Amino acid sequence: MTKRVMVTGGAGFIGSHVAGLYVEQGYDVTVLDDLSSGNRANVPEAAQFVEADVGSPEAQRLLERGGFTVLNHHAAQMDVRVSVRDPMLDARINLIGLLNLLEGARAGGVERVLFASSGGVVYGESDALPHPEEASKLPVSPYGVSKLSSEYYLAQYSLLYGMTVRSLRYANVYGPRQNPHGEAGVVAIFGSRIRHRQPITVYGDGAQTRDYVYVADVARANLAATTDGETAVGSIDDVAYNVGTGIETSVNALAAAMLDATGISVPIEHAPARAGELQRSAVAIAKARGRLGWEPQVGLAEGLRRTYEWIEMGEG
Ligand SMILES: NC(=O)c1ccc[n+]([C@@H]2O[C@H](COP(=O)([O-])OP(=O)(O)OC[C@H]3O[C@@H](n4cnc5c(N)ncnc54)[C@H](O)[C@@H]3O)[C@@H](O)[C@H]2O)c1
Repeated sequence: MTKRVMVTGGAGFIGSHVAGLYVEQGYDVTVLDDLSSGNRANVPEAAQFVEADVGSPEAQRLLERGGFTVLNHHAAQMDVRVSVRDPMLDARINLIGLLNLLEGARAGGVERVLFASSGGVVYGESDALPHPEEASKLPVSPYGVSKLSSEYYLAQYSLLYGMTVRSLRYANVYGPRQNPHGEAGVVAIFGSRIRHRQPITVYGDGAQTRDYVYVADVARANLAATTDGETAVGSIDDVAYNVGTGIETSVNALAAAMLDATGISVPIEHAPARAGELQRSAVAIAKARGRLGWEPQVGLAEGLRRTYEWIEMGEG
């Protein structure tokens, strides 16, 4: 029987790649998105589209009555600064929205829930890098708290109702369709500047590091976590997978790699460091390797080349 999957946020960057891969693999896909930052054109043609807020009665009803076996939840308020300015808005979308969906999923007999979490915001800065799933947790923003809290709600629904749950803790995801207008997504921002032959800005000394993972690899991790075997929930880490590369790349190195990948030279400008920014971040992926049989296939140079190809087509 064809599996019915709902992808929330499937008109956005990562969710649309996830929805596309499900379609390719023969799933019956419904995308639910309020188009607040997503784009209708990103939704795969073969998917059904419902324009609705994750916190709406419509979203809950759909999960209750739609015969879905899988809920893949990518919709979110994901702007760290917005979460600091308006933590209630962040919680309304990221926590109340999640609970609205989970209540629908429970009533509708959804068997598995996958959730887009974030390695960059749930882990603290104290443990050695790259962080394994068991590393200590200390979010530094209300957005991080909502991601971590969501993982606890998922674990709770698993304990109470026997749903299988998966939290995918992403590193810094990049690739085609990433919006260059937010504050995150440095590859998209640099790419758009390069395309317009404008200088790119590096904050602080540029030595801060991130773990960059290509979006097609992230979609493959979602697919693998849709069918992997049962796991007992003793802690949120038991049902979490880091999805990254384990490799730290500094902003300076990223800027150089982008100029290299594009063959275009623009000036690099420096601006004061931004308050509250993590100095270093990378996630260990041994668990996903071992249990999902997953590992990233697209290296940084190739990923940047593919991303810039898309940006040059005028989309970014
Ligand atoms: N991009 C990254 O590097 C990264 C890293 C870690 C985690 N994540 C998580 O991955 C998920 C997807 O991120 P993205 O980078 O693709 O962002 P995105 O903004 O491209 O996608 C988010 C989508 O959710 C939709 N949405 C937002 N609020 C909604 C609401 N209330 N109801 C319905 N739809 C709503 C938006 O319209 C958009 O299409 C998010 O949960 C984000 O927190 C992303």
